Amino acid sequence: MRGILLTILLLAAVSAQAGEVIVKSNDFTSSKVCAHCHKNIFNTWQNSLHSSSLTDPIFRASYLEAYHETQGRASQVCMPCHAPLVNVNKDFDLLKDITREGVSCDFCHSVKDVQLSASGPNKFVLEPGLVKRASIVNTSSPSHQVAFSKLHKSALLCAGCHEYKNSLGAPVFTTYSEWKASSYAKDDKPCQSCHMEVQEGSTVAPGVSPTAQTTFNVHTIAGGHSVEQLKKSVEVEIAEVRRVGDKMSARVIVTNVGAGHMVPTGIPTRRLLLKLTAKGQNAVLYETERVYEKVLVDKDGRVLTKDWEIMLHAKKVIKDTRLKPNEPRAEIFNLNLPKNSDPVVVSASLFYDYRPQVVEETPMSMELKSVKKAVPAAQ
Ligand code: HEC
Ligand code: HEC
Ligand code: HEC
Ligand code: HEC
Ligand code: HEC
Repeated sequence: MRGILLTILLLAAVSAQAGEVIVKSNDFTSSKVCAHCHKNIFNTWQNSLHSSSLTDPIFRASYLEAYHETQGRASQVCMPCHAPLVNVNKDFDLLKDITREGVSCDFCHSVKDVQLSASGPNKFVLEPGLVKRASIVNTSSPSHQVAFSKLHKSALLCAGCHEYKNSLGAPVFTTYSEWKASSYAKDDKPCQSCHMEVQEGSTVAPGVSPTAQTTFNVHTIAGGHSVEQLKKSVEVEIAEVRRVGDKMSARVIVTNVGAGHMVPTGIPTRRLLLKLTAKGQNAVLYETERVYEKVLVDKDGRVLTKDWEIMLHAKKVIKDTRLKPNEPRAEIFNLNLPKNSDPVVVSASLFYDYRPQVVEETPMSMELKSVKKAVPAAQ
């Protein structure tokens, strides 16, 4: 009797658990369901900006302003990328939990095709349901079907959101076309090769089902919010320092060594700053900077500095001094040093500068690289 009761209880427990892990046959499934089996991947995705594409406070503050200005119409503009299930379920008011998961597991793994020529932000051909697509060849899963997809090894998948002209035709995001024009595209190094590194570990939790895979792709997909990622992108070198009397000149070279697109890329409110300083024994003798950025204006020529204004109102680009992939940029600085200022040391530092407006402007500045050189003594 006891034995039977225990069996019934156990069965009930198992089926309750199984009830939670049902992959829906003709709709999107919650990432929590995928998490049951794909633990490692879920944990990395959870730390990504894709999983917080709606909850990210920087996005929320910006969206709120856009929403007020447009009496809600901004939802139609922003959500196709920040809550991309709206492309299918039209839940623009975000009433369903599943829509609020942002750029979710099942969104990316239900994409069948990306059509960049389609107008508006929705460029995805989606097929939600039992078939999950990625790049493992010859596999199977107990809870869904699988399909090998070349698209998931390609930059085109990312281009659906990372390449965008707004309704006025202004090129707001050009990360994909920057990549397409670079040597990385020719060498078949897509976004994934830098943003989804391969890590030792299992694609599925122990006990789920045997797998031949011993590694998985990290889904954190770090970018400008990661100092570690940023530091890979640029190098700075003081190539030459000359001095004739009190006249000094320095040639500094800044190179985009590690990004497969311009630095900075993406949202145009980010800038790279090169700061050059000349220091005497006790004082800063000279300080100046160069800025690498893309600047957009509205139809009246007003420079736009807020993310949402750029998305909605940018009309054209009036300046673009960002560093192209692999580009070395030489900067010459000429200055007059005060008399008797020996010894002098020049230093060149790179900063990533970003001023998101959360409650009030919150400047963030991250030093990426810094080098120093002694200036020859005055003759
Ligand atoms: C009951 C366990 C289970 C659940 C739940 C589950 N999967 Fe899987 N999935 C697997 C297994 C097992 C594999 C095969 C893994 C391997 O070969 O390494 C797999 C493979 C995959 C693949 C690889 C397909 C390919 O051909 O490259 C994708 C993508 C995928 N799952 C996505 C999802 C998504 C998205 C969800 C949630 C909607 C999900 N899975 C839910 C067990 C599961
Ligand atoms: C932004 C799109 C995107 C999101 C969101 C996303 N994936 Fe992936 N996933 C990919 C791509 C692209 C690959 C293939 C990478 C490659 O092969 O270079 C992949 C690969 C996989 C694989 C095959 C094994 C591997 O590591 O290559 C599984 C399983 C998988 N994802 C499950 C998930 C789950 C579960 C989630 C949510 C927790 C998720 N993915 C979220 C894009 C995404
Ligand atoms: C459905 C739209 C969508 C797709 C597809 C997509 N992304 Fe994103 N991505 C976003 C959004 C939205 C954000 C910004 C979220 C936020 O901060 O609010 C983002 C942010 C990022 C970031 C910035 C992270 C940081 O630290 O600043 C990187 C890098 C990135 N995505 C790379 C990729 C790559 C690589 C792919 C393809 C494998 C991809 N994305 C596919 C929408 C998408
Ligand atoms: C050769 C490696 C490499 C490739 C290929 C690459 N990236 Fe990046 N990406 C980086 C590095 C390094 C950074 C950090 C520097 C920066 O922010 O520009 C970065 C930053 C980003 C950011 C954050 C933007 C910013 O400036 O804050 C986004 C978004 C992004 N990448 C998307 C993509 C997409 C989409 C693709 C493919 C079309 C891609 N990346 C291809 C290396 C790469
Ligand atoms: C075509 C897709 C797309 C549309 C449409 C879109 N976004 Fe984004 N958004 C992105 C991507 C991709 C990123 C990340 C880019 C990067 O890091 O360079 C992003 C990043 C942002 C960020 C910066 C978040 C952070 O943490 O740094 C803000 C703010 C933002 N978007 C606001 C909006 C608002 C408001 C709208 C609507 C008016 C909107 N976006 C429409 C794709 C889109």
